[in-house]
Amino acid sequence: MSIVITGASGKLGRLVIQTLLERVPGAELVASIRNMEHKQDFEKLGVAVRHCDYDLPDTLEQAFLGASRLLLISSSHHHDDVRLLQHTNVIEAAKRASVGHLLYTSFAFPEAGTISLTRLHEATERAVQASSIPYTIFRHALYTDFVGVLDLQSAMVKGELRVPPGEWRFNSVTRLDLATAIAATLTSPDHEQQTYELTAPKAWAFEELAEILSELADKPVCLLNDAQLQHWMFGFLRSINTSSTTGDLEQLMGRPATELREAIRLLTLQ
Ligand SMILES: NC(=O)c1ccc[n+]([C@@H]2O[C@H](COP(=O)([O-])OP(=O)(O)OC[C@H]3O[C@@H](n4cnc5c(N)ncnc54)[C@H](OP(=O)(O)O)[C@@H]3O)[C@@H](O)[C@H]2O)c1
Repeated sequence: MSIVITGASGKLGRLVIQTLLERVPGAELVASIRNMEHKQDFEKLGVAVRHCDYDLPDTLEQAFLGASRLLLISSSHHHDDVRLLQHTNVIEAAKRASVGHLLYTSFAFPEAGTISLTRLHEATERAVQASSIPYTIFRHALYTDFVGVLDLQSAMVKGELRVPPGEWRFNSVTRLDLATAIAATLTSPDHEQQTYELTAPKAWAFEELAEILSELADKPVCLLNDAQLQHWMFGFLRSINTSSTTGDLEQLMGRPATELREAIRLLTLQ
C-alpha cells in the first residue's frame, strides 16, 4: 500500500514529497508525473515514479493501483472546463483502481467566489464527495507569492509600494506550510470526510507589507494607493474571499504558520 501524489513535479508536489520523506520511507511513496523527464528527481530520493496525465485516462488507473491514499493536486491548465474534465478523469480512475482515500487540493471559501475557478473547485469537490471513496478536501488560500504582482524589488528600490485602492486583507499562505499540513494528514488517521480551510491564522494588510519591505530594504517604503494599476490579478482578488481565516492550517501542521515577514523575506531573495 502506498501514498500516490499527482502533480508531483510541480512546486507544491515537490514540497509535499519532501515533507512526506521526513515522516515515511520513500518506498511508501509514488510520484505520479506527466513529464517523465523529471523521473530521476524522485528516483534519487527512493520514490517510485509512475506516468500520470490527467488528459490520458489510460495512464491514470495504472498510476493509482495499490494506493491507500491518493493526493490529487489540482491541474494547472488555464481553462477551468478542461480542468474539471481532467479532475473527473482522475476521480473516475481512482474508483476503478480502488483507491482507499482520496485527498484533493481545492480553493478556500469557494462558495464566496463569483468566478469559474471557484465553481471548478466546487464542482470537483462534489465529484470527490460523490465518488464513494473516503475523502479529505484541502481548501487552499492564496499562495503568498501572489504579491509578486506588486513588484516588491522595485518597491524596495524606489521606496514606494503601489497598491490598488480598497480595503484589502489577505489570508495567504506559503506552499511549504500547505505541504506540511498535507503531509501530516496523509500520514495520520481520522481525516476522512473532512474539509479543511487552509488559511493564515490572521489576515494581513498592505500596511504590514510596506513595513516589512522597509525593514528588508533598510529604508522607508511608503504605501501609495494607485487607481491606475492594471493587472488581471486585482480583478481576481476582488472576486474571491481573501480575508476570512481559520485555525485549520496550524492545527494540521502542529506548529505556527510561517510569519508574513519570513515569507516575504524568502520571496525577495528569489
Ligand atoms: N492557491 C493558490 O494561490 C494557487 C496558485 C496557483 C495555482 N494553484 C493551484 O495549485 C496547484 C499546485 O500549485 P503549484 O504551485 O504546484 O503549481 P505548478 O508548479 O504549476 O504544478 C502544477 C502541477 O500539475 C501538473 N499537471 C498539469 N497538468 C497536468 C496533466 N494534464 N496531467 C498531469 N499533471 C499535470 C504539472 O505537471 P508538469 O510538470 O508536467 O507541468 C505540475 O506537476 C496548481 O496546479 C493550481 O491548480 C493554486
